[in-house]
Amino acid sequence: MSDSSYHIPVMLNETLEHLVTTTNGIYVDGTLGGGGHAEKICERLHTDGKLIGIDADTDAIQEARKRLQRFQSKIELVNENTAHIANILRSRNISTINGLLLDLGVSSFQLDEASKGFSFRGNERLDMRMDRRQSLDAHIVVNSYSEEELADVIFHYGEERLSRRIARRIVNQRAVAVIQTTGELASIVESVVGGKFKMKSLARVFQAIRIEVNDELHRLRTILNDSLQFIASGGRIVVISYHSLEDRIVKIFFNECAAKFIPSGNKFQPDTPRIPELMVITKKPLEATEVEQHNNPRSRSAKMRVAERT
Ligand SMILES: C[S@@+](CC[C@H](N)C(=O)[O-])C[C@H]1O[C@@H](n2cnc3c(N)ncnc32)[C@H](O)[C@@H]1O
Repeated sequence: MSDSSYHIPVMLNETLEHLVTTTNGIYVDGTLGGGGHAEKICERLHTDGKLIGIDADTDAIQEARKRLQRFQSKIELVNENTAHIANILRSRNISTINGLLLDLGVSSFQLDEASKGFSFRGNERLDMRMDRRQSLDAHIVVNSYSEEELADVIFHYGEERLSRRIARRIVNQRAVAVIQTTGELASIVESVVGGKFKMKSLARVFQAIRIEVNDELHRLRTILNDSLQFIASGGRIVVISYHSLEDRIVKIFFNECAAKFIPSGNKFQPDTPRIPELMVITKKPLEATEVEQHNNPRSRSAKMRVAERT
């Protein structure tokens, strides 16, 4: 597979510009994927620089290993969930890093690879795990969650208005026969939402189940919280997100860490001053240029936020 057919890195120049503040620093790419961003980061690093690339998906690690072969002395690849960043760094005696990159979600390869069961366009066994070593998969979510749990997942993680009706239809259908494939799930959704809203609802329901399977939002909060203690002064956190739920978490985290006061919540009591841990570099999220959006449709929903450790 050619490098770019695996996944085209999004907002590559913007990432390099904001992330790499010192060329002999230690960087973490917490969503390594095919190593598209990592490759360019390594090109910028001097011989003393180092990149730790982490991905939960073994296939991504393998692909990145091939792509990054020529940087062997500068890289270490770790097949774990980045939510374990504190342990990953401590176990390597690393106490500070100069930057963390998160390019969230799944890669084009994961979406297109039928056996991973992510896409509503195929008809494969429901899976959606980034990490095949975990037991929870989409098959379990769809076939064993209660109607209420399913509705909540679809509503909260997919922001789908018809979540209750879709959940009821899933539960009715699985009482007849176990729902095995992405195609079967897609036709259940289509039987509730027809017409011009169909594609959007399919995307929302599949996104919701993927987020649940991979516990993406809780893990994102953990990564942000736990990485903060390792970022050196002047070091950066760069996050590229692809939907509003992720972006909101990043925005709130950055703003809370950049706050100079803790509000008392009472107008008769003064706010408590605090020392900010972060300075927000992007007041508004950056977006891909028109040219990139034209060349790579995946970049259209990308939002990049950057913060610097004080
Ligand atoms: C959008 S892709 C990254 C693509 C990469 N930047 C590139 O240019 O090739 C996201 C990758 O992050 C991985 N991933 C997402 N969340 C993760 C997490 N919490 N821990 C480890 N890997 C994660 C996915 O398995 C996927 O391979």
